[in-house]
Amino acid sequence: MIQDISEVLFDEATILHRLDTLARKISAEYEGKDLTVVALLTGSVIFMADLLRRIPLPLQVDCLAVSSYHGTQSKGTVTFRQTPVADLSNRHVLILDDILDTGITLRTVLDHFAKDKTILSLKSCVLLRKLIEQPRKAEADFVAFDIPNAFVVGYGLDYNERYRNLPLVGVLSPEAITRYAKE
Ligand code: XMP
Repeated sequence: MIQDISEVLFDEATILHRLDTLARKISAEYEGKDLTVVALLTGSVIFMADLLRRIPLPLQVDCLAVSSYHGTQSKGTVTFRQTPVADLSNRHVLILDDILDTGITLRTVLDHFAKDKTILSLKSCVLLRKLIEQPRKAEADFVAFDIPNAFVVGYGLDYNERYRNLPLVGVLSPEAITRYAKE
């Protein structure tokens, strides 16, 4: 797998070091508040596991399965494949996602939860934020890393379901993009 990475952006030690800082910020924000973290599947699972173990608060966790990407391109529409079951009334909700690109996914998810007027607050946290030229549909409240506008994989992020278990974030080589493209 590693031979398909043209550039390693962040190795595991760098990611975990950054998550220590991010977890401290999130812990300070939600201290004394009833927090539910909603992780977007599948890309944020590894980020969620490492981040949440660094937050010493009595939080609840739920997951939401959404999909918007096909290969290396955003489809522009977001499909909810499964919605959370937990009761979010009188709770502070923090959405976790792997990467913020166009912001279409995050916008759709935020709009979905904003309809629930019993939620006390709604914020978002992403591992990666791509630097893109066009305005984004949504911004995140907490960001671990800014990255160039390249297609990246690893640490939960996939290309046609490959590379999620790579313990780093790296740019996928053009050869691998061609080799593992879906017909
Ligand atoms: P949008 O454009 O909606 O994209 O902000 C967010 C979702 O798209 C996926 N995505 C990527 N997945 N490498 C990936 O493996 C990437 O470089 C990439 N860029 C966007 C991701 O699922 C994210 O939730």
